[in-house]
Amino acid sequence: MKRRSAFIIVLSLVVFLIPNALLANEGNFKEGRALYLKHCKVCHGPEGKGDGYTHFNPPVADLTVSRIHKKSDKELWESIHMGVPNTAMGMWRFVLSDEEIANVLAYVRSLAPSPHS
Ligand code: HEC
Repeated sequence: MKRRSAFIIVLSLVVFLIPNALLANEGNFKEGRALYLKHCKVCHGPEGKGDGYTHFNPPVADLTVSRIHKKSDKELWESIHMGVPNTAMGMWRFVLSDEEIANVLAYVRSLAPSPHS
């Protein structure tokens, strides 16, 4: 009997929690995309290729290359949170909440090069 109720609990967790987790990710990505278009596109370009504003020195990073995506979430999160010193990449912690930075990072991750390109 005990085993059976444990099974039912596990089953309901699987049925109810997993779709919720997927929906939450979807929401984060969507919000991240909206934030990207609002704040980051001007410099990083509509597709993240670093072609929004091309006159900075050092140039705006191309967010679609593996050099960026080899970095850990923590490193990229910090680059967005604290900015990159002596570059045009600003400190977004004054504009975006921690959660918004995580969402925009989820969007940046979606710009990663496909393994076949
Ligand atoms: C004023 C222009 C500008 C804006 C706006 C901007 N960036 Fe950047 N960003 C840069 C530049 C310039 C670099 C390259 C810095 C360097 O040389 O390391 C960069 C680099 C980055 C990197 C790579 C950091 C690393 O660790 O190599 C990420 C990720 C990034 N930006 C994300 C964002 C996100 C997300 C936003 C919007 C919230 C944003 N940027 C807005 C100019 C900008």
